[in-house]
Amino acid sequence: MTTTYLVTGGAGFIGSNFVLYMLDKHDDIRIVNVDKLTYAGNLENLKAIEDDPRHIFVQADICDKQAMRELFEQYDPDYVVNFAAESHVDRSIETPEIFAQTNVMGTVNLLNVAREAWEQEDGSYPEGKKYLQVSTDEVYGSLPLDDPEAFFREDTPLSPHSPYSSSKAASDMFVQAYGDTYGMPINITRCSNNYGPFQFPEKLIPLMINNALEHKALPVYGDGLNVRDWLYVADHCKAIDMVLSDGVVGEVYNVGGHNERPNIFIVKKIIEECSRAVDDPEVTESLITYVQDRKGHDRRYGIAPDKIKADLGWYPETKFEDGIVLTINWYLDHKDWMDNVTSGEYRDYYEQMYSNR
Ligand code: NAD
Ligand code: DAU
Repeated sequence: MTTTYLVTGGAGFIGSNFVLYMLDKHDDIRIVNVDKLTYAGNLENLKAIEDDPRHIFVQADICDKQAMRELFEQYDPDYVVNFAAESHVDRSIETPEIFAQTNVMGTVNLLNVAREAWEQEDGSYPEGKKYLQVSTDEVYGSLPLDDPEAFFREDTPLSPHSPYSSSKAASDMFVQAYGDTYGMPINITRCSNNYGPFQFPEKLIPLMINNALEHKALPVYGDGLNVRDWLYVADHCKAIDMVLSDGVVGEVYNVGGHNERPNIFIVKKIIEECSRAVDDPEVTESLITYVQDRKGHDRRYGIAPDKIKADLGWYPETKFEDGIVLTINWYLDHKDWMDNVTSGEYRDYYEQMYSNR
């Protein structure tokens, strides 16, 4: 029997990678991909499957109750995978309201509509239905730099700092509440920083690749020693697939790359690999420019992915040294994609963002 996935935010970075990954890996599935197409959503990301009848794209807002109801009525999904979100920390510092709206109210709306469609008269849910919330390690807050043995675990208390991570933590708590209160079959995944194809260039890795190739300044916030745990996006997609099929209902699974690096290491690695790839003497460390720090900048994120490894057999397959080269080559091969997304609205955002620093 065909399994139907309702994927939200599937024209964004991770969502589009997930849709492509799932259609490649599974034959007998159908994906209803609902995306509002904000500045971060891009149908170009889905070009490879534009003729695949297993993929149905619908432009809609997850906050729109009627539109979500109609999707449940028309397609009767087995799984909901909620990627749709405002995802950039710097934007959340400028405009927190939209983060509360989409990330919190959008999630509550989806939960309500799923409950309405799935809950049976006796309060139980049909076998095989599940709602998966794609969350982030940022909900746990920040780890100290001087204790490398400290990691985020599933029972680490939530302690978000930015408007973005606060909105994600709030939505996680609503998802948990629908599991605890209404018995809704849910899972939450909390992943570390992703990188790979189709990532919008406001985020560290594609921003640095694009700027390095264009000989523009590489803006490093603060002292450049903040640490992030980088995971190649295909490994995240695989983790979500495994949690959907084998994750124990009600559980949270942390997903991470065991690949913690200070930002300045990442930037220098990108310079090294870009200059190797294009053999350009102007791509050098002289492009690095230290700029004003992000407000409330979390110092370190670090995931111990022990539970998903032990219970589901997941592990990060792509080594950073390979993943970063794959990523740089992808951006080199997709210059049109980058030109399209960096023109217009994004150029204005970038100029305003970095002129203030
Ligand atoms: P992204 O910003 O690239 O994509 C978000 C997508 O959601 C876009 O296609 C956008 O159009 C869509 N969207 C936004 N608001 C919407 C709305 N109201 N209704 C419908 N669609 C809407 O984000 P991403 O980096 O791909 O992240 C996807 C999810 O994964 C987010 O929930 C994020 O919190 C989470 N996450 C991201 C990372 C990361 O490193 N990027 C790591 C862990 C978790
Ligand atoms: O940890 C998971 C999270 O990772 C996701 O939940 C978020 O959606 C995603 O955006 C990402 O958040 P970060 O804030 O960690 O990612 P970002 O790429 O914005 O920044 C990574 C680090 O690099 C951070 O310490 C800030 C720094 N930075 C970022 C930019 C854009 C710079 O030094 N210069 C920059 O220009």
